[in-house]
Amino acid sequence: MGSVMDPAFVQAPEHRPKPTDTEEAVGIPIIDLSPILHSPIPACAGAAPPAISGLLVEVEAACQEWGFFQVINHGVPAELLDNILAASTGFFALSVEEKRQVKRDEVNPLGYYDMEHTKNVRDWKEVFDFVVEEPVVFPVLAKPPANEFDSSMNRWPEYPPGFKEACEKYAKATNELAFKILELIALTLGLPAKRLNGFFKDQSSFIRLNHYPPCPSPHLALGVGRHKDSGALTILAQDDVGGLDVKRRSDGEWIRVKPIPNSYIINVGDIIQVWSNDKYESAEHRVSLNSERERFSIPFFFNPAHYVEVQPLEELIDEKKSPAKYNAYNWGKFLKTRKYSNFKKLEVENIQVYHFRKAV
Ligand code: OGA
Ligand code: NI
Repeated sequence: MGSVMDPAFVQAPEHRPKPTDTEEAVGIPIIDLSPILHSPIPACAGAAPPAISGLLVEVEAACQEWGFFQVINHGVPAELLDNILAASTGFFALSVEEKRQVKRDEVNPLGYYDMEHTKNVRDWKEVFDFVVEEPVVFPVLAKPPANEFDSSMNRWPEYPPGFKEACEKYAKATNELAFKILELIALTLGLPAKRLNGFFKDQSSFIRLNHYPPCPSPHLALGVGRHKDSGALTILAQDDVGGLDVKRRSDGEWIRVKPIPNSYIINVGDIIQVWSNDKYESAEHRVSLNSERERFSIPFFFNPAHYVEVQPLEELIDEKKSPAKYNAYNWGKFLKTRKYSNFKKLEVENIQVYHFRKAV
């Protein structure tokens, strides 16, 4: 990425960040998970002790009002985050030639990549992706007949030393956190805590190391263009630089998420929106850049197995009072289509969950 602004990165005027967008006045909710740090999550909301009932009220409100919240006292040891951030810093400091030795390709979507597009504009970032459970399986083709599958393994760089171990330890701990948040969300939907867990057997979750280099024209480009996350949940760690902006539902303003040391940002993805039949909605977000400091972030995209048919949960559907708002779609084919459109600049809009919304 040179210092002359390549037009591939330039956002349309209406999508560029404005200097007034950066206020942190009233941020996304901060939720203290200490009630579940040492006590188990109850099997159903009715069996919850008062501290956990209070927590469920907070989670429900945050999911409805923002689709985003930050968690503290989450139980993931700080050392694991420090280690993976150090590994990420060491990896991205390698030469492009070294990084490209573990580069993603059309068959294996895992590894290094520096050409991602969001909504057909190039993102000012480089990434390294690895999956939480190997191998990850995806249909070869997004369109029927889709009964052939590719199975991919992680690609690990030789340098920096300890990279693989730092990534794997972090994945194990954040995976546990992801299941806890999932169970809390199930309870807030009036479901048994473990109602959604089965969808994550053979999960296709992946962790992304994001590196956003300083950008000479932060008013023209974005680190990640505006988007919603397409999986179930995202558990995001960010360093102290800041740059994640969330679109506030009440007035459509972009709100900067203030970095809090050793916290995680949780956001509801499109799959929870569909499962909950729109009780919860995924929120639009983006990454703004700055001209001085590089920024690192680590999202954990908590995704079900490729064969899961995503559709509103039957317990939440009532033909008369609350009919299903979405048709079922296959997660593997959806992600395959999305990955393909992020891989190449296409002239068409990439696949979005609202394409499965039923006509009213
Ligand atoms: C993403 C994303 C936010 C960040 O990668 O989907 O929204 O702060 N990242 O890097
Ligand atoms: Ni995102």
